[in-house]
Amino acid sequence: MLGGVRPDFGGFLRVKGVNIGGGGRSHGGGAIITFSIPPRYWHNNGMPGIEKTAVWRALRARRAARRRIPLRRLFAENPRRFGEFSLCLDDLLLDFSKTALDGETAELLCQLAEAAGVGEQRAAMFSGAPVNKSENRAALHVALRAADGEIFCGGKNIMPAVIAARKDMLNYAEACRGGRIVAADGAPFTDVLHIGIGGAMLGAKTAAAALRDFCGGLRLRFADNIDGAALADALSELDARRTLVVVSSKSFATAETCQNARRAARWLAAAIGAENVARHLAAATAAPKKARQFGAGRIFAFEHWTGGRYSVWGAAGLPLALAAGKKHFLDFLAGARCMDEHFLSAPPRQNLPLMLGMLGIWHRNICRYPTRAVLPYARRLRFLPAYLQQLDMESNGKQTGADGGALKTETAPVVWGAEGTCAQHSFFQMLHQGTDIAPCEFILAARGKNSDAEQRRLLAANCLAQSAALMSGAHATESHRRFVGGRPSITILFGEITPFSLGRLLALFEHRAFVEGAVWGVNSFDQWGVELGKTWAAKLSEQFGGDAADEDSSTRGLLAHCKKLMDG
Ligand code: F6P
Repeated sequence: MLGGVRPDFGGFLRVKGVNIGGGGRSHGGGAIITFSIPPRYWHNNGMPGIEKTAVWRALRARRAARRRIPLRRLFAENPRRFGEFSLCLDDLLLDFSKTALDGETAELLCQLAEAAGVGEQRAAMFSGAPVNKSENRAALHVALRAADGEIFCGGKNIMPAVIAARKDMLNYAEACRGGRIVAADGAPFTDVLHIGIGGAMLGAKTAAAALRDFCGGLRLRFADNIDGAALADALSELDARRTLVVVSSKSFATAETCQNARRAARWLAAAIGAENVARHLAAATAAPKKARQFGAGRIFAFEHWTGGRYSVWGAAGLPLALAAGKKHFLDFLAGARCMDEHFLSAPPRQNLPLMLGMLGIWHRNICRYPTRAVLPYARRLRFLPAYLQQLDMESNGKQTGADGGALKTETAPVVWGAEGTCAQHSFFQMLHQGTDIAPCEFILAARGKNSDAEQRRLLAANCLAQSAALMSGAHATESHRRFVGGRPSITILFGEITPFSLGRLLALFEHRAFVEGAVWGVNSFDQWGVELGKTWAAKLSEQFGGDAADEDSSTRGLLAHCKKLMDG
């Protein structure tokens, strides 16, 4: 439950009684927190020029003085290192002791967060302030998972509408799952075709894969790419008479989604008659008029203050709700809410999202590592790297600050990765012996639902061994067998993948992206960088018929060759 926010006219945005519900599974009364937010933070202005601060210089100096200390020596010198550089939230353990962090550096990072106004920016985001300055919007994905309460956005308490929309979506999902809402021929739906791309797809797809063991009844298929294979593969496994198509798109204007949606509607019409398509077609969008014009029979509208890559918690989570059901979806929200409460209330040095974010800053800007490897040691989390690529790189892959000024620091690292243990047989060679260091993030659920004791033991042993080997290295007389070590990693370890633990994990990563963006002074909630490519794609698709005279010679040559191959 989030509390009421009313800008008082002392020049501060005062957030009163932010009660975000109980931690853990309880939804009882949680902490009542009150913030005062100076205007400069209302718009996520951050702290342009953070690199000029004394604390930034102190971090740089300390790193320079300590960079040659082997990680394994840090453990040898401090038997309590694991305890001092790991944090817990219930069963969730964040171990960052296999990084080069020391106590003084950790303290300086907390001071840096303070200097950057991370706390004030966090309060501004939770309170519904227009932190997305370039679009003059709030970023209230935390409201989508709030239990109840008040959040004032644009002078209106948005929570009643949020709760009502959640109930409407979940009631619809339960009705489809229970056969109370049926296909045109009166039989229950058995399958869902989710059409969408980017944040309109990745959240539900990642969560549905992660929660496969909690899903039943309606089977999910996905179509995202404009490459015809994406839709063809999905349709090849579907019977239109039994299929509900969900078109998920905040703008309801994304080229790939509109193309796939039109084809899916034609596929439905051919099987069940055009007059019945609406019954088999639902939409989740912030453009309900467009969805209605398209012919959607049910429309689940959401607000523009929901960013696409932050939208799985609301209407864009409909495919997940259809597959997993109301109870599991509410548990998913409860897990994220638990992390919200922790993020808002835990002291900096005990705060998992804050420390994870500040470690991201330290690795990226002080240690100067250009990438971050995400390594989920779980088949069910295999889409997590792709999800985090959008979350981190679309939120923070920017060179212009929220205030419009050019940033002087590096921002989002390149986020990449793949599931373990498979990744050990593809790119771990580079992680261990490559010329570049990539901080690794290992993610492990100790009790894999589909693993017996031996499989669990082997998976965990591989995960823990890799981080230990990266850190320690190994000497050898032959140089090609030598492991320098000193390769940093963070391990996120928890009991098992459940709706609650997944919601908690995704919220941890959302808030990490927020913390990093707040320190860099980036607006983490817009994505202007995706527009140029789209505009040029639309132009080039028209030029396939012409000579593309005003294009560069490479594009002209490629177009000509492509046309020849197409006509071949
Ligand atoms: O092009 C990037 C993007 O706008 C993402 O931010 C978004 O998640 C995706 O495309 C899909 O957009 P929409 O939900 O409007 O279809």
